[in-house]
Amino acid sequence: MVYNDIKISNTFSLEAVAATYVEYGSVDELRRDLTGAEKPFLHIGSGSNLLFTTPRFEGTVFHNSDCSVSVIAQDGARVLVRAGGGLKWDRFVQWCVEKGYYGAENLSLIPGEVGAAAVQNIGAYGAEVKDIIERVEAYDIIDGVEVSLVRDECNYGYRSSLFKSDAGRRFFVIAVVFSLSRQRRLNLSYGALKDIDARSATLQDVRDAIIAIRREKLPDPGDIGSAGSFFMNPVVPAAQYEALAAQYPDMPHYPAADGAVKLSAGWMIDRCGLKGCRHGNAGVYSKQALVLVNLGGATAKEVIALAGEVIRKVEEKFGVTLRPEVQIV
Ligand code: EPU
Repeated sequence: MVYNDIKISNTFSLEAVAATYVEYGSVDELRRDLTGAEKPFLHIGSGSNLLFTTPRFEGTVFHNSDCSVSVIAQDGARVLVRAGGGLKWDRFVQWCVEKGYYGAENLSLIPGEVGAAAVQNIGAYGAEVKDIIERVEAYDIIDGVEVSLVRDECNYGYRSSLFKSDAGRRFFVIAVVFSLSRQRRLNLSYGALKDIDARSATLQDVRDAIIAIRREKLPDPGDIGSAGSFFMNPVVPAAQYEALAAQYPDMPHYPAADGAVKLSAGWMIDRCGLKGCRHGNAGVYSKQALVLVNLGGATAKEVIALAGEVIRKVEEKFGVTLRPEVQIV
């Protein structure tokens, strides 16, 4: 279906209208609606990681409405599940937990949809979605063909993938095939999960615990507009971390690829005294400094100005430059 001048939903609750909006449920529909569509193109999920800087997008916004989910193969140990890109991510996690399939539970309650999860490589509580991705089915809008990319072809990294790169923007994610475990296997390595009894906990217990932690720390997009973490956690060379740790021994840090160190942007923003500060109607969330929120009627300008202020203060104090995690349109 093709619509004109339609409001684009986004969890930041910022005004945004698409000149043309295409809702497609199959590759055939997408192929048909791409013909003659006005550029630029923007393929979105539920708008949970987007910040619109202008109130009107003068191109075509595409949204996949395929919410299907089904088992396509299984043996005693593993199950392959194919989910449509438009399925709400947390509905998918809930489905897996109900079926007794292990692997998605740590990613409970993350906003967004299956397709966007595979683009963004969403992660939380010691897990990343790439860990359970078998392959991604996409439509190549340049060559007009369907492609199936196995996980290794998707160039996954921390909150990054082929699909976020210039070379990968030609691929619209249509569906994702997940490989999940049918045997009990919980990932309780993350500090915040230490109270869970590893011997007796069920999948549902882990999901409930994650939901409780998220509800405690992160704003519910239904109440307060936000896009989750606004910035990525910066990855710095080991030597830079050592120098910072000498000054700030309690600085949280995590091992990253190739001996580098991932720092906690939320902690640094908090240490700059920015928690709860505001710029107009945009603010730094009072319970998690990595999250910028719309306190009611904020403009994109205010959010961007606040983000700039945060970047400047963190640079001044720690010499580290934060980069947005949110996609700025
Ligand atoms: N911290 C503070 N003050 C704050 C925020 C954090 O001191 O205001 C400290 C915490 O005490 C902890 C450390 O910083 O020692 C890390 O905090 P947290 O565990 O809350 O995680 P995070 O690194 O801030 C990341 C993800 C979140 C994900 C959590 C949990 C990114 C950009 N963010 O946040 O993902 O839920 O870990 O795994 O990697 C998202 O991407 O939208 C998102 C919410």
